[in-house]
Amino acid sequence: MDKPKLTIDEMATFCKRKGFVYLNSEIYGGIAGFFDFGHLGVELKNNIKKEWWKTFVQQRDDVVGIDGSIITHPMLWKASGHIDGFTDVLVDCKICGMRYRADQLIEDKLKIETAGISIEDISKKISEHKIKCQKCGNELSSPKKFNLMFSTHVGPIETSSSVAFLRPETAQIIFANFRLVTENARLKLPFGIAQIGKAFRNEISPRDFLFRMREFEMMEIEYFVHPEKQDECYFINEIMNYEMNILSAEMQKNNKEHEKMTIKECINKKIINTKWHAYWLTMMHKWFVGLGANPDHFRIRQHVKDELSHYALDTWDLEYDFPFGWKELQGLSNRTDFDLKQHIEHAKTDLSIFDEETKKKIIPHVICEPSQGVERAFLVFMFDAYQFDKSRDNVVLKLHPRLAPIKLGVFPLVSNKKEIVGLAKKIYDDLKQEWTATFDTSGSIGRRYARADETGVYACITIDFESLEDDSVTVRARDTTEQIRVKIKDLKEILRRFLSGERLGRLGKMVE
Ligand code: GAP
Repeated sequence: MDKPKLTIDEMATFCKRKGFVYLNSEIYGGIAGFFDFGHLGVELKNNIKKEWWKTFVQQRDDVVGIDGSIITHPMLWKASGHIDGFTDVLVDCKICGMRYRADQLIEDKLKIETAGISIEDISKKISEHKIKCQKCGNELSSPKKFNLMFSTHVGPIETSSSVAFLRPETAQIIFANFRLVTENARLKLPFGIAQIGKAFRNEISPRDFLFRMREFEMMEIEYFVHPEKQDECYFINEIMNYEMNILSAEMQKNNKEHEKMTIKECINKKIINTKWHAYWLTMMHKWFVGLGANPDHFRIRQHVKDELSHYALDTWDLEYDFPFGWKELQGLSNRTDFDLKQHIEHAKTDLSIFDEETKKKIIPHVICEPSQGVERAFLVFMFDAYQFDKSRDNVVLKLHPRLAPIKLGVFPLVSNKKEIVGLAKKIYDDLKQEWTATFDTSGSIGRRYARADETGVYACITIDFESLEDDSVTVRARDTTEQIRVKIKDLKEILRRFLSGERLGRLGKMVE
């Protein structure tokens, strides 16, 4: 089976055609960096968030969740450093006014990596290489910093004191609630606080479909540890033999490619500095792979020194091999006690916790902050699921059954025989109490299977003439096209087991 690598534009077209994603307000010409999710997209996106929340919050004893507000007190963003430092560098055309994110423009023109490039170096590169406006060919302005936060006014009168910001990350709301959550949930170190929610960034040049948007969703965990026990990771033995593609800062300095290594090797050779960081990198990688993503399409890359954010001691990105190259899928930073200390200072409040062992107050460290954009995860699952099946001559969207937007398709073989349509409708009404399902009567059965394959429907159930005689239906598997005959009374149990990962052929033998 071929797996053509779609371009990002082809993926955008596919997503629009099948009801996954639309450009926001397209009837008015669209607005760059904003997207809407269609009837299938919203299901997939909700499933991604549900799986993440289940794995990293509900199934763990050491992580609790919160859901914070999008607009917060502006002082919070002063304390976090976003008002002063959450900037990208822009250049604009002196004639047509077209604006560019300077580092991206240099990357596109010179085909070089620009991670951590300074404003002075940007200026130098633009003049040395005579980089001009891509639209009209005229000269560009000198580079200047641009703050990415969206602002608004709170209340009816717009004054400088009514200015507020839409959050550019969910993390700060976790820090601001740190004391209440810790006390109310009676958390003991080490522990994590998680959040899923919208974030807004006024990106200079949003691009690559869902990859760089202006409004998106984040799934973040702040994982706190005792400052003197930063390397006491209780789960490390469970992951020692786990393998990933690794690209450290040192390897990048020496122009090396990523290499497959075990966590054990990374820790023994001090490639990854703390066990907790290694642990969270592994957990996030495993989560993607466990939901059907291809491990060969991932690597973890350490930030080089100049690339680190103002709050980070060490950062590793989980990267994915997108059609436009290896890019950040998720950032995992060691934020130390930077944020809690900043809020202690600016809010003049005590955010320390009492350490029973030493009977002293301590400020916990965020040893790792796994920070994932929901839409980038959405892209990864779509790219890895998309396959063109030559023998079927149609696309098969092999999404993991837990992610598939619609789990089941119910088809009466013919649409003009009342008894068959009636029985099919009865089965459909029953199944949709437990699973997302679609009822399709139009076109040949082959056409209906193809339509279902293209949108990732995991199993199709066909009701035919014989069903009226023998109370059985045909169940067909999306990925293999295997078919089995199942008694209607056994159908739900078989589907439950099939959707949990058992093979349809095996289940078929059981009911023979
Ligand atoms: N709290 C840490 C933080 O915000 P970040 O690396 O700026 O770190 C984390 O963002 C993740 O959010 C990224 O790895 C990516 O998945 C997602 N993300 C960031 N900016 C985005 C954008 N403009 N569009 C879509 N996703 C974005």
